[in-house]
Amino acid sequence: MSLTLNSTLAALKPSGIRRFSAMAKATPGCISLTLGEPDGNTDETVKAQVTADLAANLTHYPANNGQPYLREAIAAHMRDVRGLGALGYTPDEVVVTNGATEALCATLGAMLNPGDEVIIPTPAYILYESITILNSATPVYLDTCPTGFQITREALAAVASERTKAIIITSPNNPTGCVLNADSLDAVADFAVEHDVFVICDDVYGRLVYADGFQSFAARHPELRDRIVVCDSFSKPYAMTGWRLGWIAADAWFVAQAAKVHQYMVSSVPSFVQHAAVAALESDIEPALEMYRERRDLVLRRLDEIGLPVNRPDGAFYVFPSIEQFGLSSEEFCERLIREAGVALVPGSLFGAEGHVRLSYCCSMEDIAEGLNRLESFVRKLEA
Ligand SMILES: Cc1ncc(COP(=O)(O)O)c(C=O)c1O
Repeated sequence: MSLTLNSTLAALKPSGIRRFSAMAKATPGCISLTLGEPDGNTDETVKAQVTADLAANLTHYPANNGQPYLREAIAAHMRDVRGLGALGYTPDEVVVTNGATEALCATLGAMLNPGDEVIIPTPAYILYESITILNSATPVYLDTCPTGFQITREALAAVASERTKAIIITSPNNPTGCVLNADSLDAVADFAVEHDVFVICDDVYGRLVYADGFQSFAARHPELRDRIVVCDSFSKPYAMTGWRLGWIAADAWFVAQAAKVHQYMVSSVPSFVQHAAVAALESDIEPALEMYRERRDLVLRRLDEIGLPVNRPDGAFYVFPSIEQFGLSSEEFCERLIREAGVALVPGSLFGAEGHVRLSYCCSMEDIAEGLNRLESFVRKLEA
């Protein structure tokens, strides 16, 4: 057979996170602190709206970019809840997507030409690299480990080239949970103007913040509206990972192009989930936030007792401690941790940051407490 496939696929790796969560599942009694998946369920009022909409036969093709009432609700949410009033996104500047995953795919699909470079500050979510490669463009990594997961002007200058087309920033970050400070955001803004590049803001954790004074990139730099693309999602703040709902918000000129990619790739998101999405935006996430904050505090206290250095995370539901002191690769550390101690974490190498592991605290306090006890025994064994 001489059939060939898209050659860019050869460079894509299957999800390593899933590999480690599968290993945890296959190990009897193993506690899995691997997935970025809220343990709570979607709010009852949100689910009830789907039942009502199915009964009302909202089962026909919806508008490609999302129903007008949902796009209006998202524009209002960005203005009133997310501090983006100065950008004044209109409903026509919003595209409702199949999760942030599709938002990012449509964004990069609209933006990239073969040979373009995309700056990915690492540690980072693997998706950015994969979509960049799929578009025959080149990921360029900016290592933030030496600077406490912040982005400096020097690091940006070191990765800039004539081909730089975009930078993707994630604040709060997966896997570190860290929030970009004002210096990082300003460095990115100045860089974007100087080198004429897009700033893609993956804001999926933008509502899961545990510190005062959080500012997203777009909120701090509304003057860059024409080069900012915000990708966001219902998955994490509303425990709606399985609904596959997210959005793009950007200047009209860019949205018109991203909407083409969206239209030909997925057409639209289902009709009968769109009122429910409005209900989700109106729901109270404070109790969930409080719960995550308590879990984070427990994890930080225990990591300190165990002796694993960690940068204090102010958002998302991850911590990313260093394991450099043990001289093991992060994969080896995590494989042995599952086998020898019955607790699963994710190796930092899967996020482009060797010497670290990601611990997700999207699970019960009991599992977190017991998981950390097991981690402590494993660490003591390595130290012995
Ligand atoms: C940083 C980041 N961006 C995007 C996504 C994808 O989110 P969605 O479920 O909306 O596709 C995730 C999921 O874990 C993520 O961590």
